[in-house]
Amino acid sequence: MTPDERIVVAGAIVDHERRMLLLAQRRYPAEVAGLWELPGGKVEPGENAEDALRRELAEELGVEVRVGAMLTERVTLRPGLTLIALRAQIVTGIPHAAEHEALAWVDGPTLADWARDGALIPADTAWVPELVGELGRP
Ligand code: CDP
Repeated sequence: MTPDERIVVAGAIVDHERRMLLLAQRRYPAEVAGLWELPGGKVEPGENAEDALRRELAEELGVEVRVGAMLTERVTLRPGLTLIALRAQIVTGIPHAAEHEALAWVDGPTLADWARDGALIPADTAWVPELVGELGRP
């Protein structure tokens, strides 16, 4: 990785039964406004991805999370900007949309439907097979 390479980290937040995934509806920019994403943001210089995700989710949703393992897919958003996702569970707080239009908990079949219908940010569709396979599995 070159020094000017930046990472965007998103949270695959699941409930305690691992049945539902938390999606957040973007307000901006215009190309993706109204589409749903795994909430997150850019890792700042000197910060690791786990800390960045905890910071972003505290700012955006008002929750404290425990961060788990990375999802397999990495997406190049543009040269020098790579999107990753880390699994997470809420430890403290009830998520609210401080920066998003709305939040929604979706189960696996709903996630697959939304992806098929184009309701997700295009980059985030990379994680759908993996997440659909995990949600609701004992
Ligand atoms: O606010 P900050 O610049 O830290 O991050 P952001 O605007 O939420 O995300 C930076 C870029 O990553 C934007 O181009 C988003 O569309 C993209 N992104 C994405 O494709 N999927 C996500 N789950 C989160 C961000």
